[in-house]
Amino acid sequence: IIDSISKADRIYIYAAGTSYHAGLVGKTMLEHYTGIPTEVGLASEAGYHFPMMSKNPFFIFLTQSGETADSRVVLKEVNKRNIPSLTITNVEGSTLSREADYTMLLEAGPEIAVASTKAYTAQIAVQAVLAKALGEALNKAEAKDWNLKHDLAIAAEGMQQLVDSKESLKEIADKYLIKSRNAFYIGRGIDYAVALEGALKLKEVSYIQTEGFAAAELKHGTISLIEKDTPVIALINDPATADLTRGNIQEVVSRGANVVTIAGKDFAREGDNVVLPEINYYMSALLTVVPAQLLAYYASKDKGLDVDKPRNLAKSVTVE
Ligand code: G6P
Repeated sequence: IIDSISKADRIYIYAAGTSYHAGLVGKTMLEHYTGIPTEVGLASEAGYHFPMMSKNPFFIFLTQSGETADSRVVLKEVNKRNIPSLTITNVEGSTLSREADYTMLLEAGPEIAVASTKAYTAQIAVQAVLAKALGEALNKAEAKDWNLKHDLAIAAEGMQQLVDSKESLKEIADKYLIKSRNAFYIGRGIDYAVALEGALKLKEVSYIQTEGFAAAELKHGTISLIEKDTPVIALINDPATADLTRGNIQEVVSRGANVVTIAGKDFAREGDNVVLPEINYYMSALLTVVPAQLLAYYASKDKGLDVDKPRNLAKSVTVE
């Protein structure tokens, strides 16, 4: 796999839903640790409007089930053009695994609930393993100096700590979310990618209309939707923009929003609702997503809904 990808001048990641959001995180890791420009796209948009190719492209398909029709259409085009490809999936022998040149398995165990959670985590971890191995093969100092085993251990320990303190998230969900019709997630950098996933989790299982926004983008229109008690969940882990996101929080607070802050230890301020253990920025999604998943879980459960089987959804979508 490494031999094949290291010849690429550009990596193209295609996926749907939560897997697409994991791809957004993977892009930042791959670019940082390997230096290979990486694009991420929605499979459903690429099948019939194929992206313009670099000279030596390499495609990665992220798919929990390995059966998503939208992703299969893109892979068929890729194969027609003899472009090398890798499927990262949870299901051995699945269609996308069989039809791609290479497979990496998520080994997340069966994921039964419709809303994907552990597959997302595993997709980020497996992309980290890939970025590390590829970056080392390409002699990138960033990859050689990266103690990934250590970072994964920190992530595992941090996730456990967050799960152990889940009662505080139930309180936040009960106080701010369950009676609300809408909500927002905001963040910048990797936090923006997690904001999209946090919003998807919350809306799909609680039916509270939730949008994920790049924090600064709110002021370009959507801030007009902020009114008294609108819940805004702010994610703050990006060293380059943490202070700017604090400014965006002030903008919504002054319009009456109920802000819930989820901040990395290094960026935390007094009064933050959740403080995440310290972790490498590129791995931060592994921790940030946990309170977001728990907020969605409690918002759904405490509204008396079926968390595992939200209405209108299927675990694996085999139609376009
Ligand atoms: C369905 C599921 C989502 C999932 C998406 C992509 O819509 O409900 O949870 O993220 O498909 O599935 P895949 O199996 O390709 O990751």
